[in-house]
Amino acid sequence: MNRLRLTKIFIFLGCLVPLGRLGWKALHDGLGANPIEVITHSTGDWTLILVLVTLSITPLRRITRQYWLIGVRRMIGLFAFFYGVLHFTTYIWLDKFFGLHEMIKDIAKRPFITVGFSAFVLLIPLALTSTAGWVRRLGGKNWQRLHRLIYLTGILGVIHYIWLVKADLRKPLEYAFALSLLLLYRVVMWVAGVHKNSVPAQARPAEVTET
Ligand code: HEM
Repeated sequence: MNRLRLTKIFIFLGCLVPLGRLGWKALHDGLGANPIEVITHSTGDWTLILVLVTLSITPLRRITRQYWLIGVRRMIGLFAFFYGVLHFTTYIWLDKFFGLHEMIKDIAKRPFITVGFSAFVLLIPLALTSTAGWVRRLGGKNWQRLHRLIYLTGILGVIHYIWLVKADLRKPLEYAFALSLLLLYRVVMWVAGVHKNSVPAQARPAEVTET
């Protein structure tokens, strides 16, 4: 088994750990007095963390010259979407019991829900077009343009978190700081005119730039 395959298995299992922990706690009465809140917070946290990890791959791979890292980006991005789906499902199912009226009222009363929802919706086309077939179908440039939506997901995810926190802003601001560094890296690269491949090699058409 080659190194990339092993690393992928390791990352796959690693990305399932937060879900496994929640499942374990649920089975052993470890979710406390408000299990829905614990699940919402954990899945929300992991959606944002994995969006940020996905955004770290390009700088990390260039700085460390570990070019194989591009091969794990798609999986991590898809796990971000997976935790986003769990987060959203927790909200509409366990929190609101699919009550449309309740949800609309909530959106009007709490704008952070609208922002979170927008961040989630932007992840959908990215997940759907993450395959090698879609990279070829769209063409490298268009695919990369579309996948820059992840910057917006990161920004909206951080705003969502800042707006929902009532007192201690430390944690959302840490996320905001990490995101700022990752976006700053893109700006610096763009100003420096560095545009190189970040489309998966097996799917790479002739014309490709950095995301
Ligand atoms: C699908 C639409 C979404 C809905 C309806 C939603 C809803 C919520 C709700 C109700 C909470 C708990 C608020 C509270 O405790 O007062 C929350 C927390 C959170 N959400 Fe979302 N959210 C959505 C999408 C997202 C997305 C896409 C991200 C990340 C990119 C995200 C990241 C977070 C984070 C980081 C927290 C706080 C976790 C913590 O307290 O540790 N959410 N969300």
